[in-house]
Amino acid sequence: MHFTTITSLLATIALAGNAVMATPVPAASPEGEATTTTVEARAEAPLIDLWDEAGFLGLKFTGSANVGDCKNLPSKFNDLSSSGKAKAGFRCTVWVAKDCKGDGFSFNTSGSNSKQFPSWIDNKSSSWKCVKDE
Ligand SMILES: *[C@@H]1O[C@H](CO)[C@@H](O)[C@H](O)[C@H]1NC(C)=O
Ligand SMILES: *[C@@H]1O[C@H](CO)[C@@H](O)[C@H](O)[C@H]1NC(C)=O
Repeated sequence: MHFTTITSLLATIALAGNAVMATPVPAASPEGEATTTTVEARAEAPLIDLWDEAGFLGLKFTGSANVGDCKNLPSKFNDLSSSGKAKAGFRCTVWVAKDCKGDGFSFNTSGSNSKQFPSWIDNKSSSWKCVKDE
């Protein structure tokens, strides 16, 4: 209670008080960073395998994420994959646009139909997301 009174008093006295009022603003920033750090500290697990050739062949990309998080493919694997499989216990979707937008195609551990993505998304996936398979 004393603090409230003192703070109000200071604020009143230092009406031009940018220096006084500026102090609490940087103090709020570390809290925001702490929240971000906590989210990033959650362990990302490998959830998806993608290949640049049909039949789970060729260059392989293994994507790690938190379950349910959307990830954009790295530029070296963007618009490149032709087949994919979810890791055990997961179901994954790839999308033609970044940020899991546009048309998506889903598969489980058995992988893409006919071991190859349908032509509308073959060599066109830009993002992916995996959820627990039910
Ligand atoms: C994967 O999905 C297919 C159909 O989409 C289904 O037939 C198959 O049983 C599923 N496999 C697993 C391991 O859940
Ligand atoms: C995707 O790329 C592979 C390898 O370059 C090619 O064989 C395949 O025909 C392409 N698919 C489509 C739908 O263009």
